[in-house]
Amino acid sequence: MCGIAGYLGTRSASPILLDCLKQLEYRGYDSAGVGLQLADGIQITRSVDRLSGLEAKLGRLNGQGSAARVGIGHTRWATHGRPSELNAHPQSSLDGKVVVVHNGIFENFLELRAELSAYGLSPISQTDTECFPLLVSMLMREGMDFGQAFAAAVRRMRGNYSVLCLHAEHPDRMLLARSGPTLGVGFGVGEYFVASDAAPLLPHTREVAFLEDGDVAELNLDGLTVLDRNAAVVERASVHIDWELGAVELNGYRHFMHKEIFEQPEALARTLEAHLDGDVVALGLSELEGSFRDLEHIAIVACGTSWHAGLVGKFLIEQLARVPVDVDYASEFRYRSPIVSNRTLALAITQSGETADTIAALRDAKQCGARTLAICNVVGAQIARLAEATLFTRAGPEIGVASTKAFTTELALLALLALHIGRVRGTMTAELGAELVRGLRALPAQIEHVHGLEDAIEQLAGARQATTNALYLGRGSLYPIALEGALKLKEISYIHAEGYPAGELEHGPMALIDPALQVVALMPRDEHRERTLSNLKQAAARGAKIVAFVSEGERGLDGVAEAILELPLTHPSLAPILYAVPLQLFAYHVARLRGCDVDRPRNLAKSVTVE
Ligand code: M6R
Repeated sequence: MCGIAGYLGTRSASPILLDCLKQLEYRGYDSAGVGLQLADGIQITRSVDRLSGLEAKLGRLNGQGSAARVGIGHTRWATHGRPSELNAHPQSSLDGKVVVVHNGIFENFLELRAELSAYGLSPISQTDTECFPLLVSMLMREGMDFGQAFAAAVRRMRGNYSVLCLHAEHPDRMLLARSGPTLGVGFGVGEYFVASDAAPLLPHTREVAFLEDGDVAELNLDGLTVLDRNAAVVERASVHIDWELGAVELNGYRHFMHKEIFEQPEALARTLEAHLDGDVVALGLSELEGSFRDLEHIAIVACGTSWHAGLVGKFLIEQLARVPVDVDYASEFRYRSPIVSNRTLALAITQSGETADTIAALRDAKQCGARTLAICNVVGAQIARLAEATLFTRAGPEIGVASTKAFTTELALLALLALHIGRVRGTMTAELGAELVRGLRALPAQIEHVHGLEDAIEQLAGARQATTNALYLGRGSLYPIALEGALKLKEISYIHAEGYPAGELEHGPMALIDPALQVVALMPRDEHRERTLSNLKQAAARGAKIVAFVSEGERGLDGVAEAILELPLTHPSLAPILYAVPLQLFAYHVARLRGCDVDRPRNLAKSVTVE
């Protein structure tokens, strides 16, 4: 996903923009660029390379560029036009005066290209972005001033986008617009920072205002002025971001994914702390509270790892709150005419809060009359503007493309939500509620215990790094964890892996068993243990090579599995949270040993902001 950066102040803009872009690298990009406001015009530097390439180019242009006190930067994930210097951002008007960086898509760009070409302003790149500076330039030729032309161009654009714009003849101004992807303005002392998410702003400030959809804004040394979609001047209050500064640095770890796996005890403890008051679940859902008792149905929409969290959520909510739950891939929900009423709670789960399909699915459900709730990790994200209420996980910034700590904190929040709705509806006993709260509070220490198994897991990974196929098995709420374990392995190590309910083995996957297939089994001590054991014995009898994750003291798989790792005993409803962790570590070490780019797997971006 593209990343936007901006600086306006009294220091040299170039190093600040580069640092900011480095913090946005995790989102995935294939080219990058900056535009620096100089006395004789805006200097654009672009590179189809890692940021180090851009840095080197800027270094070569040094001296002149370092004088700029205003600038914009961009990391591009190509959608319209292949990755190339010509298509990288900033894009500019033909005279180079109007310079723009852009996230998202201008859906009507073909129509605009035709109009601009007819006017004599033919685009030279293949991007949708270039239409914007060309249009601003055309409108200024027609007599509008910079601000008017920018606002009019924004009104012409269709789609989901955010933009930053400079004009060579207005060196102290930066214009901004948001209609979709997050755009935050950080307030320093006499200086301003802009970015697509809060993390890059943290070294400079913790006070960040997020533009709302439809906003058009201007930044200059006097401050930020925002006009809403009705052109009324509005205040966008800043929020205090309390993420730790070190959260966006490796701090001695080789990879962010590794660091984030190890941050889970703290992330979980923070998430619980924020939403539990003693034994009482305190979610602060006043907007929705009245609807819980009469709920007929919960529709969970999500993608990828967050969808797996939704599957676990279904188990928890149906067990504790006795409300039927559907879990849809957001990309499917949108196109299957789901049955939704005003007694439906649509629940979107998304780490980034920017996933296009998840946002669209929640919007569709809202339009059909559903009440809406989001679980999200990123303050200021789009989804929080759409949902009636948002529960924020407190995982801190997740940089690795493979989701880890966001997943386990999403699960913790789902457990709390299920508990809360169950208590409101009177569908569970007080004892069970108290037991689950105790179980949740014990999890951070239990996860630390699982971290202590890392050497053994690394050894397992070492012996299996040449595997080409893996089958993950679990029953009940461990089945979604089997799916999640398989996703972790495939996305970062490129090994083909599938997750299956253990009970489905004989309905097809058993045919896959051969010495080249690695079976990974999840068998905590729960109501499914005997049945899973029997499935695994049948697989072993056909030659399956099994690695099993089981509860402490489990002996049933001795002689059946070739490797067994014992995990602490937890409440069966919470076992998914614990069992996710060794699978993350296993995938991490396999990928690392295979020499894969763990934090930036090929072809994947951290957030998927297109359908
Ligand atoms: O930000 P979201 O939770 O909405 O992202 C959803 C998926 O794109 C994401 O979970 C993806 O599957 C991860 N790479 C999995 O590790």
